Amino acid sequence: MSHELSAMNYEPSTMKALILAGGKGTRLKPITNTIAKQLLPVANRPILFYVLDQISEAGITDIGIIISPETGANIREAVGDGSRWGVRITYIPQPEPLGLAHAVKTAQDFLGDSAFLMFLGDNLTQAVVKDFVQRFNTQATDALILLKEVPDPRLFGVAELNSSGEVLHLVEKPKEPKSNLALVGIYLFKPLIHRAIAQIKPSRRGELEITDAIQKMLDNGQTVRSHILTGWWLDTGKKDDMLEANRVVLDNLLQRNVQGEVDTESQVVGRVEIRQGARVEKSTIRGPVSIAEGCHISNSFIGPFTSIGAGTVVEYSSVEHSVILERSRISHVERLADSLIGNGVEVKKGQERFKGIRLFVGCDSTLEL
Ligand code: TTP
Repeated sequence: MSHELSAMNYEPSTMKALILAGGKGTRLKPITNTIAKQLLPVANRPILFYVLDQISEAGITDIGIIISPETGANIREAVGDGSRWGVRITYIPQPEPLGLAHAVKTAQDFLGDSAFLMFLGDNLTQAVVKDFVQRFNTQATDALILLKEVPDPRLFGVAELNSSGEVLHLVEKPKEPKSNLALVGIYLFKPLIHRAIAQIKPSRRGELEITDAIQKMLDNGQTVRSHILTGWWLDTGKKDDMLEANRVVLDNLLQRNVQGEVDTESQVVGRVEIRQGARVEKSTIRGPVSIAEGCHISNSFIGPFTSIGAGTVVEYSSVEHSVILERSRISHVERLADSLIGNGVEVKKGQERFKGIRLFVGCDSTLEL
């Protein structure tokens, strides 16, 4: 790759974006046995859709999506050709999840000589991408990374900076971190990144790490700058992260919008979304809450920070700070809280006389009783 490429300025219209929506999703099993992690809903909308919103708002229209053999078809079906966002999507199958840098390598034909935005398909942030792209286009840098102060940097890729914000060093999940600045899953690269990726070896966990590739750019004398995110960042890798993402998005983005039917014996308080075809009877809904199409809520209390997916029934129950996916049934459950429940799950109270717990649960489930 020529040096001129490194010095060139890029307009968003000529930049590309690469979304990583492959991977295994091991930490969210069993839900990810049947649903791609990036399609899990936050406030009743797939995480990936928020990613696409941000990329299209930044003016990038040529987007590649890395998909896995297991969940690629579902991602294609959900996103389609991208016309909903006014963008063009190219799907790029990655046969095995061999690391974030391996995903970039897999997309090399698609990316060609373009500068590009790389976005992990399970990350959510406040709307910052447009500014981030503009900054990249006005700074002479070969890569721009987004960082966020975190309480426990040992769980992340960590950056060490000099006083003018230039990145000195990067380490993946360090035992003794040199800073509390974690790499957020949003990066901007000039095409020199491909040369760096060609020079790195798989890490101890057998993956080609993007952190190592960026470190290699630094070793090669290229400039890597950073931008510190002050707003929220959510990495939806585990159950509690999903609940937190749901809480933050409901809290920040949800507007009151009642399209479904609510009977006169019900109370709907605060920012509550009740979509078309949903029915609420003899119940109290206290926002922020999102209730999707075709749900039936009766004789129940739905408390703050709850999202209920399409076609779910809740009766004689109380639910709060939870995410329930589609077509489930919650019946006579007194206090369901802090829960993530998949599609087609039934949770019901047993008969009064029998005090035992009866379970019919699939593989990789977690039950807290
Ligand atoms: P991770 O959350 O690091 O990996 P994972 O999805 O395999 O999850 P787990 O650790 O629970 O098994 O991945 C971040 C994002 O990048 C996610 O959207 C999946 C995607 N990804 C790829 O597309 N290809 C890959 O090779 C890897 C490792 C991840």
